[in-house]
Amino acid sequence: MSRMYLDNWAKLNEKEARKWALQKEGIKMGTSRRASKPSSKQLLLGLDIGSSSIKMCQFKQTAKAVELLHFDMVPLPPRAIEDGVLINRAAIVEKIRELISRNKIRAKNCAISVSGHSVIIKKICVPEMPPEELDEAIQSEVEQYLPFDIKDVNVDVQILNPKVGGGFMDVLLVAAKKDVVDDYVSVVKEAGLCPVVVDVDTFAIQNAFWLNYEFPPKEVIALVNVGASTISINVISNGASVYTRDISMGGSLLTEAIMKELDVPWEEAEHYQKMRVDDMPFSGGIFQGVQKCSERVAEALVAEVQHTLDFFEATTLNSDIARIYLLGGMSEMGALSRALERRLEIPVKRINPFYNIVIDSRKFNLDVLDEMMPLATVALGLAMRFKGDAKPGGSDARINLLGSKK
Ligand SMILES: Nc1ncnc2c1ncn2[C@@H]1O[C@H](COP(=O)(O)OP(=O)(O)OP(=O)(O)O)[C@@H](O)[C@H]1O
Ligand SMILES: [Mg+2]
Repeated sequence: MSRMYLDNWAKLNEKEARKWALQKEGIKMGTSRRASKPSSKQLLLGLDIGSSSIKMCQFKQTAKAVELLHFDMVPLPPRAIEDGVLINRAAIVEKIRELISRNKIRAKNCAISVSGHSVIIKKICVPEMPPEELDEAIQSEVEQYLPFDIKDVNVDVQILNPKVGGGFMDVLLVAAKKDVVDDYVSVVKEAGLCPVVVDVDTFAIQNAFWLNYEFPPKEVIALVNVGASTISINVISNGASVYTRDISMGGSLLTEAIMKELDVPWEEAEHYQKMRVDDMPFSGGIFQGVQKCSERVAEALVAEVQHTLDFFEATTLNSDIARIYLLGGMSEMGALSRALERRLEIPVKRINPFYNIVIDSRKFNLDVLDEMMPLATVALGLAMRFKGDAKPGGSDARINLLGSKK
């Protein structure tokens, strides 16, 4: 698995770069792009509560680098989270506690994220005003932009472009349903942590990307995260988010298809789903069954991504997407990236979220990190957040939907 993974990275000419970054204590460090450098004490523990697993990341800030202190993940039982709703709260609390105790984490303050139906992201144009007045001005205006009562949502804003002309500025308005945010916050508190930041998966990914790679100037790129139950798409132009969409589809479609096709329970179906082609048993039609399901589900997922990106390109000027960066557990599935590339005719590249981060190879098993790489991006983006982080605008998105408890 990890061998194949490294080979794939080599194909993308990144193996050497990654090794270089790991071995040479990260000379090209993402930290130089931080608006202000947090102390290690201020950095938050990143906790990505995904519907199939919880990932946890902690960084240390050194003089010129961001160093990995902890990265770990635990699977959740099937259907612990459905449609972004926490169903099996006891299991989620137990798994967070497991991560905390086995990594001997002492930090309490953490950053978590929400995604899917409960989140609305809109780019709006408002009269120019100083950032400190923006929060208040938006609260009174927000209902005209959202299909919810202001009482039912937590809202945050980020200035995208402070001067679009005519005395106006572009602002990103982000809202999440209060009850969903409260639910995530309370489950994390029950596990003994204290959420200080509630981010959105989309922007955690954008921040993690920015820590590792340059946003190519004058180029439009799409960050596409295909997880177990959500596909989140963020189109970035000149380093700033210009279009986002979350689609309620993901790898669990494939797990369910394999369950049905082979008449096996969830765990077994997921096991086959993740298996390398070379290791797959040829008996009982397993190989053929998994291949058939993979291709069918890959086509369905890609059709949705294509639909979204076609819509973006049709409604936006200068919007030709030059490259797709793929991440999330399903990015491991070859059929998905192949179908994306074939149907969209856009080069697809997988993100390495550890690319620009210092990793002590005596402390971490790099093969294990390699395997977790596609799943890690959201947690890494969350672990970049720090208490009291500013909103510099542009590429560094600093959304906090914690609401009045901020
Ligand atoms: N090697 C693999 N091949 C195919 N699918 C895989 C592989 N590894 C993981 N997956 C699938 O990826 C999904 C998990 O990805 P990820 O961890 O990004 O999702 P999540 O964060 O838990 O879910 P979400 O963000 O959608 O709530 C699962 O459906 C899993 O079966
Ligand atoms: Mg996820």
